Amino acid sequence: MPKRANHSRDDLRILASLSDIGAALGGSADLRSAMERMLERLEAARGIVRGAVFLLHEDTGELHVEAGVGIPSEGMRARYRPGEGLVGRVVQSGRPVIVPATAREPLLLDRAFQRKASGSPEASFVAVPIVLERRPAGALAVDFPFSRTRDFQMETHFLSVVAAMVAHALRAQRAIEDERNRLLAENKNLRSELEERYDLSNIVGTSGPMRQVYEQIAQVAQTSTTVLIRGESGTGKELIAHAIHYNSPRAKQPFVKVSCAALPDTLIESELFGYERGAFTGAQARKRGRFELAHGGTLFLDEVGELNLATQVKLLRVLQEGEFERLGGTETHKADVRLIAATNRDLETAMAERQFREDLYYRLNVFSIFVPPLRDRKPDVMLLADHFLIQYARQHNKRIRRIATPAIDMLMGYHWPGNVRELENTIERAVLTCDGQVIHAHHLSPTLQTAESSGTTVQVSLAEAVGEYEKDLILDVLKSARGNRARAARLLGTTERIIGYKVRKYGIEVGRFRGRATPPPSRGRSTVAPPGRRGST
Ligand SMILES: Nc1ncnc2c1ncn2[C@@H]1O[C@H](COP(=O)(O)OP(=O)(O)OP(=O)(O)O)[C@@H](O)[C@H]1O
Ligand SMILES: [Mg+2]
Repeated sequence: MPKRANHSRDDLRILASLSDIGAALGGSADLRSAMERMLERLEAARGIVRGAVFLLHEDTGELHVEAGVGIPSEGMRARYRPGEGLVGRVVQSGRPVIVPATAREPLLLDRAFQRKASGSPEASFVAVPIVLERRPAGALAVDFPFSRTRDFQMETHFLSVVAAMVAHALRAQRAIEDERNRLLAENKNLRSELEERYDLSNIVGTSGPMRQVYEQIAQVAQTSTTVLIRGESGTGKELIAHAIHYNSPRAKQPFVKVSCAALPDTLIESELFGYERGAFTGAQARKRGRFELAHGGTLFLDEVGELNLATQVKLLRVLQEGEFERLGGTETHKADVRLIAATNRDLETAMAERQFREDLYYRLNVFSIFVPPLRDRKPDVMLLADHFLIQYARQHNKRIRRIATPAIDMLMGYHWPGNVRELENTIERAVLTCDGQVIHAHHLSPTLQTAESSGTTVQVSLAEAVGEYEKDLILDVLKSARGNRARAARLLGTTERIIGYKVRKYGIEVGRFRGRATPPPSRGRSTVAPPGRRGST
């Protein structure tokens, strides 16, 4: 039985070297160095004197040396066209080539291996194709020391298995690259979408107080100054923080937001500064904090007034020294971030109550922007309403063209405690419930209806609702008929006498529509599309 024992020992050695080569190929994220390791293992396990992996480059259509052992640098720069030389033939035909004695083979170009130049002794050459998606993508070629007794069939088999492993590694790498490119493209798209969204021109409003806000944004955006944005809930503080970032030199770097109120006290520090593995129970891996994630960019501390006192101390340290450590860590990190903080809290009162540190307040309050409540910028109400109308009509695929006058009156009369956010929600709701081309008073939320009828009724009776609707309708038609009652009557399929009666009943001022196709300018831009003949209503 000794022969059989020998045979299986050989098999085992071959299997061991194959698994070794597999490990070398999978052992490095960089495919080129993985292939070099693989060739070195071939040197050790199969005794090759030189070897190379050739890959077909799609851009040049040529074979390049991707990795090599035992070949001079001149050879590393070799190029072959498919079909050219023996390597080119292997790639073109997809079949292995064996040359037992290289010195007598005229087809060997010796471009990569440079045997003649290095005056090396006689060798045997074997090349096998590397096949990817059933197409030859390259070749693995090696030189063995010349020997009459070499088992070329076995060596070719062995190399074919290795070539299949290379193909596998290539496929994995290309998949990763494709994914990376996809993510990069997606990221680029998202970024330009963000830039567009937070472009200054997308902040709506031309009222005096808003103009002052724009001026302040312009003053501070180009600097790295800390900015404190103050104002009631829903006034647009976050929008302004974004606008500052996307108009700053840091625009291409990250904008990272921390909602101080949303995070429990126990988590806020690890969110801000990150932690090292084992910093506390459950910290199983190192985690980077938002300060690190925002490196080079902007960190937006939303609702900074809600930070607990212990975290305020740590934040103050970062602002003063420009550095921080991860929780449980000793390494000091530089904090290269531009800080923008926002709050709707009265920080002065919080300071007096010892809930907000005075020193932190002064650090944050370097440049402050006050965003006025919507009730103090009435001229912006209709601009914003139209802006949201266009936005949500598009989003919900509706062809709504304008807001009816009574609805405008209600929007203008309301005090908007929830500010722009409340107005945005109101318009979205109106768009959703509206089934014609015009937003009427009854599409607005009951809160506004109640406010309009000075809080007398919460529930509107059927008669009242019908009356409101009728009034709306007549107002609209009178408007497009430019105050001409006879035309309005025709458009509504009724008589002039009835129109006259309704006009008196609802106290409609017909004179205000005469000679005007669009509503009075004092109301802002309330027409979404050019007014035309009434549609479905
Ligand atoms: N001037 C504006 N132009 C267009 N949209 C605006 C404007 N102001 C606010 N908005 C919109 O109103 C909504 C609320 O704004 P934002 O979230 O910035 O308010 P906020 O002040 O941060 O509120 P909170 O204090 O409640 O967090 C957002 O959808 C925002 O896009
Ligand atoms: Mg906010």
